[in-house]
Amino acid sequence: MAKVIKGGVVVSATGRIQQDVRIEGEKIVELGSNLDDSGSEVIDATGCFILPGFIDGHTHLELNNGAGSQNSADNFYTGSKAAVAKGTTTIIDMATPDKGGTLKACFAGWNSMAAGVSSCDYTYHMSIIEWNEEMKAEVADMFAVGLTTFKMYMAYENLRTSDKAIFEAIEEIKKHGGMLGVHCENGDLCDEVTLRCREAGELSTHYFPLTRPPAVEAEAVERYLTIAEMADYPVNIVHLSTKRALESVRRARQRGQKVFVETCPHYLALDESVYDLPNFEGGKYVCSPPIRSLEDQVALWEGIIDGSINTISTDHCTFNYKTQKILGKDDFSKTPSGLPGVEDRPAIIYTKGVAGGKITLERMVGLLSEDIAKQFLMYPQKGAIAVGSDADIVIWNPKPEGKISVKMQVSNVDYNPYEGFQTKGAAQEVYLRGIKVAENGQVVQEKTGKYVFRKGNA
Ligand code: URP
Ligand code: ZN
Ligand code: ZN
Repeated sequence: MAKVIKGGVVVSATGRIQQDVRIEGEKIVELGSNLDDSGSEVIDATGCFILPGFIDGHTHLELNNGAGSQNSADNFYTGSKAAVAKGTTTIIDMATPDKGGTLKACFAGWNSMAAGVSSCDYTYHMSIIEWNEEMKAEVADMFAVGLTTFKMYMAYENLRTSDKAIFEAIEEIKKHGGMLGVHCENGDLCDEVTLRCREAGELSTHYFPLTRPPAVEAEAVERYLTIAEMADYPVNIVHLSTKRALESVRRARQRGQKVFVETCPHYLALDESVYDLPNFEGGKYVCSPPIRSLEDQVALWEGIIDGSINTISTDHCTFNYKTQKILGKDDFSKTPSGLPGVEDRPAIIYTKGVAGGKITLERMVGLLSEDIAKQFLMYPQKGAIAVGSDADIVIWNPKPEGKISVKMQVSNVDYNPYEGFQTKGAAQEVYLRGIKVAENGQVVQEKTGKYVFRKGNA
């Protein structure tokens, strides 16, 4: 049966309009005033906004982390449920091959973990952790299976590659019109300073951010931008966290370079004082790059307001506090790195950004959905309330007030880094390709997610 959403205000990144929305099957088929609803299921959105389903462009739902070989607490089953419960209908997960493994094997492995299991739609950024002639040839194979975006690392012993590898990978990706995102931290310096902290017995989480200060991010961003300039191709910087790195991006853009910047909710809602919390509570916040100063936080919000930052995704990467994070209790460097976020991103950005008067709801739609879809080549299938688009729809009620708590969350992790955060606004109903998948924060239909096939821009 067709569905007609009535009484709501449709919002895009560029405007809003009171309109009804007709859904048939998986697609939006009509928009307009007073649509005929005879023979259709009517969905009442009075007093609410009709938003395109949110897209999280950076998750690690199935991470086997080098630090102590910890498996992430969430997997595709639990993490995707956490996503749709609060309005995120598509994720781009970081698929990471084994050392010596092929991209094709990794792609097949990620498909086997997601297919028939995921409750939201999904695709992947394929990580390139080694660079050789075989890898180079495999880039084309990824485009053939609809995967157009890649990730490389300048940090982490087990994941990082050389500048030459990044340069050549950009050149290869450019041939097909895809995009590379890079984790920008100077890995050599991070590792060396960590070693020195350990030798000096500086082992509490207080020292963790000092091992990865703003300078190591800024240096890596400058280097990545130089590599991209030499390759003459736009690139993406993932999880940018500092004022200093953002200033590097602004300078590159002034020189005419095209650069995309992602930041994450934890850099916008938390500050570095978390690392001084007693009883190893700081371990909950160990992530790379680290949580930064309030000055950085203010600068990132300014970057969001002035358009210097393009997208907000989460870097969702969960480890249980009691059994996994705790491994770093006597040595911060043994703490598995990463924070949850896929579930709470919409409420945090709405509360701090929109209700807090920093950004418009239109800007939030761009940051959390439309601009991510455009950047990662899934627009207008995703990221739009438009005729022909997938009926991925969030009916967003701006009125409810709540409090984030581990007790209420869907995610399978035993803590919430935003515990006690007062929220405004919530996803009242969530539709994934026309199917109601969540209502008032609870998943009502699971495992309906599908792989999103993308095409390169070449
Ligand atoms: O600490 C983090 N961010 N863990 C996930 C891996 C990454 O660097 O994105
Ligand atoms: Zn990263
Ligand atoms: Zn990440």
